[in-house]
Amino acid sequence: MKVNGKPSRTIWLEPDRWSVGIIDQTQLPHRVVLARLTGLSDAVRAIASMQVRGAPLIGAAAAYGMCLALRADSSDEALESAYRALLAARPTAINLKWALDEMLAAVRNRPREERLALAYQRAAEICDQDVGINRAIGRHGAELIAAVAAKKKNGAPVQVLTHCNAGWLATVDFGTALAPIYVAHENGLAVHVWVDETRPRNQGAALTAWELGQEQIAHTVIADNTGGHLMQHGMVDMIIVGTDRVAANGDVCNKIGTYLKALAASDNAVPFYVAAPSPSIDHGVSDGLTGIPIEQRAGNEVATVTGRTSDGRIESVRIVPDGSEVANYAFDVTPARLITGLITERGIVAPTREALAAFRSR
Ligand code: MRU
Repeated sequence: MKVNGKPSRTIWLEPDRWSVGIIDQTQLPHRVVLARLTGLSDAVRAIASMQVRGAPLIGAAAAYGMCLALRADSSDEALESAYRALLAARPTAINLKWALDEMLAAVRNRPREERLALAYQRAAEICDQDVGINRAIGRHGAELIAAVAAKKKNGAPVQVLTHCNAGWLATVDFGTALAPIYVAHENGLAVHVWVDETRPRNQGAALTAWELGQEQIAHTVIADNTGGHLMQHGMVDMIIVGTDRVAANGDVCNKIGTYLKALAASDNAVPFYVAAPSPSIDHGVSDGLTGIPIEQRAGNEVATVTGRTSDGRIESVRIVPDGSEVANYAFDVTPARLITGLITERGIVAPTREALAAFRSR
């Protein structure tokens, strides 16, 4: 997708062909700052501090983190230790473990002198695979948007609500939940996006709004609690969100607050779709409520807000009284019964154990 009109991915190999470039997402939307990862610890820090975030991008960054670790030491011990360090960087998105397992499988039983080249090759494939999956999700999801558009009068825009950022910034390129919107827009359909601000880190207000703006897609940022009101007044045609992990029974773990949107959608008969690439499906977790670890992050993310001052400085200010306890649960689980369908790269899949088992064996 585009940054200031120029096509870009969120992660890339630098011209030296070994170090890794990223967009530092902690600086958006106020500044586009690029960062360079040169070792395992850079990759771990970038994931944990959310310079890179979003389930598929976390996986891609971890894959390159393994390359950087192997560059320093290609022994079995170094490989295992890099795997553990990267896996511990964030606990919820299964894409992280998926990508690390792919990397281990590519290099583990190979001679030490071959490992580095094989690792870089597999990491590049993981990135390209993500882009291909997202484009396919975009095509399938755009058909859902087109079906709504066909029922609208006088070309009125399809109103899509999304939560957090599951756009191109959350992936290597193109996004998952926003991919259908990009394809619909390319196809000439009118779409307007309601963007939940997504406290505490404001991925909606900061990232989704920024990337939709770069692509010139109509959008409106709303406070997190607005969606229910909009749905009651017929102002939302459909919801599309991303996911960090889908359980085998169809429960979906995603950014905190997703569940409340699904409840409001169910009460108002608004279709609730989840864009779910196959590496985000964890067939090993039977149900989402008991099986998925929910990341808890530092309380200062809740106690403060960060923004740009009128003279252009980026500052954080405290909004909670000194001494008050804060809790920062980063994700929640939406039960399968509240989900209309999973938009996968192989079409729309019902959020049921049977449909997901069939999807796995396809
Ligand atoms: O904490 P984040 O910003 O990494 O959370 C991101 C989300 O919850 C996304 O919706 C999810 O990772 C899917 S990204 C395609």
